[in-house]
Amino acid sequence: MQFAAIADIHGNHLALEAVLDDIKRLGITRIVNLGDCFSGPLEAGKTADLLLPLDALTVRGNHDRALTDRPAVEMGDWERPSIAQLSEAHLDWIRNLPFSAVMEDEAYLCHATPQDDNTYWTETLSKDGVLHLKPLEDIEALAAGIDYPLILCAHSHIARSVQLSDGRLIVNPGSVGCPGFDYDVPFYHKAQAGTPFAAYAVLEKTARGWQPTFRQVRYDNLAMARLARERGMGDWVSALSTGWIG
Ligand SMILES: [Fe+2]
Repeated sequence: MQFAAIADIHGNHLALEAVLDDIKRLGITRIVNLGDCFSGPLEAGKTADLLLPLDALTVRGNHDRALTDRPAVEMGDWERPSIAQLSEAHLDWIRNLPFSAVMEDEAYLCHATPQDDNTYWTETLSKDGVLHLKPLEDIEALAAGIDYPLILCAHSHIARSVQLSDGRLIVNPGSVGCPGFDYDVPFYHKAQAGTPFAAYAVLEKTARGWQPTFRQVRYDNLAMARLARERGMGDWVSALSTGWIG
């Protein structure tokens, strides 16, 4: 069994196109999607038109939820530019997304953690606002009761895999469309992939267990950076251009 895991597309339709081309080139036909599909200053509508026909098993991210659980006037600056581009059919699709999903009794999917959609599962923050690997016991505590050999999560936009002491494997494929962000909750911090490429992962079940392969795909990231600049989102310009928050 082999499939691709995509996540955190955040309205970047050029990055999604590049990733879908790469997946096709590898001959992979099954895709799962870990949420945060549209929010941001880019192309939410075009992303939805690419994404929905895939009919990929998809879980809801915190930013997907934020497009449907409050009036537009109460939305944040990642949702405001995208909500105007989404049709009622797109919004219905978001409303119907599950919090979590299981694929063939093998893989558990959630956006952030099994408990909520807005906590970094495998990362924690240092006092100076740097994301780094969380202690194993803290990662394992959040995995209690998730009895599947492969666990997929996203949300931090940082690609990584963590093997738990009982052999279960947690994989975050990284972000298709947003390689860095800064955020002021619980205090100011940055997440930075360090490259501007479109990230995703291929998961393959082998005789020794699940094998993750992290893919980074070049695409016209500067075109998307220009779009972010036109729309007045400076932190996105830096992340999309370089993978770093300037
Ligand atoms: Fe998220």
